[in-house]
Amino acid sequence: MKRILLFGSTGSIGRNVLDIVAKNPDKFRVELLSCHSNVRLLIEQAKTFKVSAVHLSDHAAAETVRQALPASTRIFVGNAAFAETIREIDADLVVNAIVGAAGLEVSYHALAAGKTLALANKESLVAGGELLKQVCRQTGAQIIPIDSEHSAVFQCLQAGRRNEVEKIILTASGGPFRNRPKETFGSITIEEALKHPNWSMGAKITIDSATMINKCLEVIEAHFLFDVTPEQIDVVIHPESVIHSMVQFCDGSVIAQLSPPDMRLPIAYALQFPERLATNLPRADFGQLRSLHFEPVDNERFPAIALAYKVLRMGGLAALTLNAANEIAVAAFLAGRIKLPDIYAVVDKMVIESITISKPSLTELLEADGQVRKRTEELIASETFGWWKG
Ligand SMILES: NC(=O)c1ccc[n+]([C@@H]2O[C@H](COP(=O)([O-])OP(=O)(O)OC[C@H]3O[C@@H](n4cnc5c(N)ncnc54)[C@H](OP(=O)(O)O)[C@@H]3O)[C@@H](O)[C@H]2O)c1
Repeated sequence: MKRILLFGSTGSIGRNVLDIVAKNPDKFRVELLSCHSNVRLLIEQAKTFKVSAVHLSDHAAAETVRQALPASTRIFVGNAAFAETIREIDADLVVNAIVGAAGLEVSYHALAAGKTLALANKESLVAGGELLKQVCRQTGAQIIPIDSEHSAVFQCLQAGRRNEVEKIILTASGGPFRNRPKETFGSITIEEALKHPNWSMGAKITIDSATMINKCLEVIEAHFLFDVTPEQIDVVIHPESVIHSMVQFCDGSVIAQLSPPDMRLPIAYALQFPERLATNLPRADFGQLRSLHFEPVDNERFPAIALAYKVLRMGGLAALTLNAANEIAVAAFLAGRIKLPDIYAVVDKMVIESITISKPSLTELLEADGQVRKRTEELIASETFGWWKG
């Protein structure tokens, strides 16, 4: 029986994790759930899974939860309590399904406590990759990716030795605007951007998929997760999202991982690793599929992929800056304040101004993240940079 701490339980990934847990009560027990604002769903989940603890972002939410759950349920509040929560609630696995750099502290404290981390929250590796890898080396803790592409790579890597890996090939669906002319990007509506052709996900990652900044974050994530150079990471457009990614070995063999797109598969893999969990998830039907398609990335229309290689070359806090600026820009797009292509302009401008701190601590990363967010807000509000107004 694996005991799990599930951070971000009310989100798309969090709900899929609970689906797997509910179907395998003999294998998994959830000890902790967390949310940011969806207290109603958290209470429902806590009652269903009879958890021993919950984590909430603020005291008002904690009060509501305290009245609804048994007195024996422990309640932790605020980011300052992440470390204590992970230390005090005994578990075998920490699942980080929080969205955004808000998940960085959970990743850090889980790894610092020597826990295995099942990671959906790619933003923590983008913002704090060097630090998290250093903590892994110190404590021996392991990261098992949940992101479907990285789960695929992780699985393909079992087919050879690390020094035999030539390159990693990340697949990308291309999102909803794969074939849309660049001149019309400015008129893309929020509703259009929130409609992904293959995946049903939270709002932030859906917009990241529309701009392909999601793939940019994934290139950076792959660099840190698999210790490969940026030159060893390729991206190829594969509209069907059936091949989730591939690894090319030194003999020329390419190993791919395939399945119909369903996040419950990489989640089940991460929960049950190193074994595989028997599931009744949909199987690939090759009679129906008939053909799979591939095309190169159009860097002209989607400058986000090139940005990943640029920030990896820059080093310092360039990746953290890219991520924080993107989070603010995506929120501004969803609030109708900027247009979709403005997200690139905002992120690019902030990356150029990024700073370097040698071997930053968690506190320094969090401070820098806060500063980038503030400067990005100012940039979006500024008259001089009012590119969308004309
Ligand atoms: N969805 C997918 O299919 C998918 C696939 C691959 C990777 N991922 C990655 O998985 C992560 C989660 O994505 P998602 O689509 O599940 O997002 P989501 O549906 O928006 O859920 C996000 C979760 O994080 C919580 N949260 C939000 N802000 C928080 C904060 N400041 N502090 C603590 N918790 C906070 C939310 O709580 P409330 O509900 O209370 O707001 C919710 O539980 C992201 O990093 C994403 O890139 C997702």
